[in-house]
Amino acid sequence: MRLGVASDHAGYDLKKAIIDYLRSLGVEVIDFGCGPDETVDYVDYGSKAIESLLRGECVRAILFCGTGLGMAILANKYPGIRATPCWDEFTARVSRSHNNSNCLTLGGRVLDVDKAKQIVAIWLETEFEGGRHERRLNKISVIEKNNFKKIISPSNLIKERSNAFLRRKS
Ligand code: RB5
Repeated sequence: MRLGVASDHAGYDLKKAIIDYLRSLGVEVIDFGCGPDETVDYVDYGSKAIESLLRGECVRAILFCGTGLGMAILANKYPGIRATPCWDEFTARVSRSHNNSNCLTLGGRVLDVDKAKQIVAIWLETEFEGGRHERRLNKISVIEKNNFKKIISPSNLIKERSNAFLRRKS
């Protein structure tokens, strides 16, 4: 299994500990940054991991920031991403069995390393239950498709491009 991981400065130390843990389990990890000793915007790093996941270069992603919340908000802007902040064993388990989470987000300022390792282990091993949960997720997919359509429908794209063209002209 290959995972994409990314963090900002507030999630960096926890990311480093979890990368070591994942590698000790034999999981392949691609780290999209950030590096140590830099203060960054979580958006710039989380988006790299999610875009790689959407290209199929990894099967799931784990993102780290101070709380896990900003990274979850970011990741859930991408179609097909079900990002779940988890803070204990129960949320880790149901994020997979009920929500079919494909992106775990963790908070470096709210979790200690041992708790985060437990969460990661459960999140990795728990299977999606399907059934009624699949029906619910399918309903979310319909909402996602309808709303993304509004934003990126061809007519909106044409409008956006001609506005940009007119702006350049003026
Ligand atoms: C960075 O200070 C902090 O705001 C960020 O890591 C994260 O917690 C945002 O959700």
